[in-house]
Amino acid sequence: MRYAVFGNPIAHSKSPQIHAAFAAQFGLADFQYDKLLAPLDGFSSAVHEFVAAGGAGCNVTVPFKEEAFRLAGSLSARAKAAGAVNTLQLLEDGSLFGDNTDGAGLVADLLRHGALEGKRILLLGAGGAARGTLLPLLAEAPALLVIANRTEAKARVLVDEVVTPWLAATALPVARLPQYGVATFDFLVGGVPLELQGGADPLHELGAHGLQFDVVINATSASLGGAVIPLADAVFAPGALAYDMMYGKDETPFLAQARVAGVTTCIDGLGMLVGQAAEAFALWTGRRPDVAPVLASLRAAL
Ligand code: ATR
Repeated sequence: MRYAVFGNPIAHSKSPQIHAAFAAQFGLADFQYDKLLAPLDGFSSAVHEFVAAGGAGCNVTVPFKEEAFRLAGSLSARAKAAGAVNTLQLLEDGSLFGDNTDGAGLVADLLRHGALEGKRILLLGAGGAARGTLLPLLAEAPALLVIANRTEAKARVLVDEVVTPWLAATALPVARLPQYGVATFDFLVGGVPLELQGGADPLHELGAHGLQFDVVINATSASLGGAVIPLADAVFAPGALAYDMMYGKDETPFLAQARVAGVTTCIDGLGMLVGQAAEAFALWTGRRPDVAPVLASLRAAL
């Protein structure tokens, strides 16, 4: 079976290595996975050529995830919510099914460090990366989810387009409905967000001296430009977990910031990368790989 990851650039991709390790776990000798550079204006023809040559599915990375969303003939609910597709699967009728496994990969990695149910989650950022994680995070029934973004209007769009429809459609009993809110970094620095809307009661319960969160997730691209997110140390509850979707050989700026604020559980996004791959692999092969040894070997090679 032929699979691949499409992106531009693509040379840096670790996906072939990850999927080869998964295939080896099950002795799938005929599982082939390549990295393929698609021209910036030629993504859909590259995918069609790949399928015509026997490709059974592919992953999609920057900058093609929105185009893959439009290319798919059918979509999973989480891909619809994300507005982006990172996994395509060829169906028997020749059409392409689009899924988004990024958020599930993040949640799987977070769950390795403890349950999310009943937790207070702060999601930093409101771009594509943040949007893709919302449904999988909500499905874990946190007590509170606050989306904080430099540009507040973009956080509100996520609430209106993803969170509110999910709340309307969910069959969860009211008592278990996650509350949500929107914030900007400014007043997370300053303390109590008076203008916070939605779920006002649980937020007020958090205390008069500032919001506190059990899980703080960085989905911004701030560190790419060397910027530090203006977060008050007090947003981290005692025993909080800090998660950065970025990863690298060195500690990321956000995790360094969290550690200085007293956070002891600081996790980077390498596990999310392996987790999203595991979800895609499971979709294609029906087999659920063991993430831990693959993550350990990638970590050792950083
Ligand atoms: P991605 O697909 O990686 O999420 P994106 O859609 O461009 O990329 O979104 C980038 C996110 O990082 C946005 O939430 C952006 O905030 P704005 O909506 O205000 O642009 C956030 N971001 C980027 N640089 C930042 C910085 N220096 N400080 C804080 N947030 C930043």
